[in-house]
Amino acid sequence: MPLPVLRPAPRDQASEPFATDVIAGLSATPKRLLPKYFYDEVGSQLFEDITQLPEYYPTRTELKILRENASAIAGLIPRDAALVEFGAGAATKAKILLEAAPQISAYVPVDISAQFLGGEAAKLERDIPRVAIYPVATDFTKPFELPVAVRGRPCVGFFPGSTIGNFEPHEATELLRIAAQILGPDALFIIGADLVKDRNVLHAAYNDAAGVTAKFNLNLLARINRELGADFNLAAFEHHACYNQERSRIEVYLASRKRQKVRLLGKTFEFRAGETIHTEYSYKFTLKSFSALARGAGWAPVAVYTDAEHYFSVHVLKQK
Ligand code: AVI
Repeated sequence: MPLPVLRPAPRDQASEPFATDVIAGLSATPKRLLPKYFYDEVGSQLFEDITQLPEYYPTRTELKILRENASAIAGLIPRDAALVEFGAGAATKAKILLEAAPQISAYVPVDISAQFLGGEAAKLERDIPRVAIYPVATDFTKPFELPVAVRGRPCVGFFPGSTIGNFEPHEATELLRIAAQILGPDALFIIGADLVKDRNVLHAAYNDAAGVTAKFNLNLLARINRELGADFNLAAFEHHACYNQERSRIEVYLASRKRQKVRLLGKTFEFRAGETIHTEYSYKFTLKSFSALARGAGWAPVAVYTDAEHYFSVHVLKQK
């Protein structure tokens, strides 16, 4: 049976943030949509499929780093700690830490999708019964309160997958500051960050041969059709992803294949042929640029782990 999921009252009172954000984004110049909306049920499944692609190296590389360094990381974690995962998907990565560090007695997966959370949490509770699980369904980019049961315990934040790279640098700084407040003084923070590398490797990871990343990107329009009754013709848009070396980021867009109009909630949005909707950035870091970002948000580097090819990094930070 799924575990009960804590749903803190939203501080943002907008009744339909998805509709509001989509209308604002499509009314802006240039047009944009927020990447957090990729992850409805279909999008979350497509992302899971991406993580299995031969070209998409981040997930398997991060898993390898975590497995190879689990006991070293565990050695940094205090007794009776609570592991708080920001944006918990499948709990595979958290499980590596929970198994390596028996002193962790609570796990708080935080995710916007309550349904996904409840199911994953129940599975984990069966697998590691010694750990008490307190799922929280909320948008982790905004301040939220930890469940009462873990307040006052030493907290270890966990933010794997280089999701930090999907935020612009000022947003990433803000997120790290909010996390510092939520986790409390003396907290540790374990963060996965994708590294700058050969542009062909990066390009392939976001332009896979099977077209799964394209489907993932286009699902954003399909979701707007499903949930907001829009009439996007998916065949009239195409996936674009390219590496911007100067800014160390992959830029993802949906480009209109022709001049067209789209209807949505009583409004009409016009597209020129070739006009793009920006849907995502995926920033890539150097060990130095990531440490600088962390320091700027009040976190001091404690340890960093990487793979032999220096494709991906796992950072352990402590509040300054
Ligand atoms: C979730 N996030 C870290 C992924 C990334 O690599 O930026 C999302 C993704 N977008 C396209 N492929 C994967």
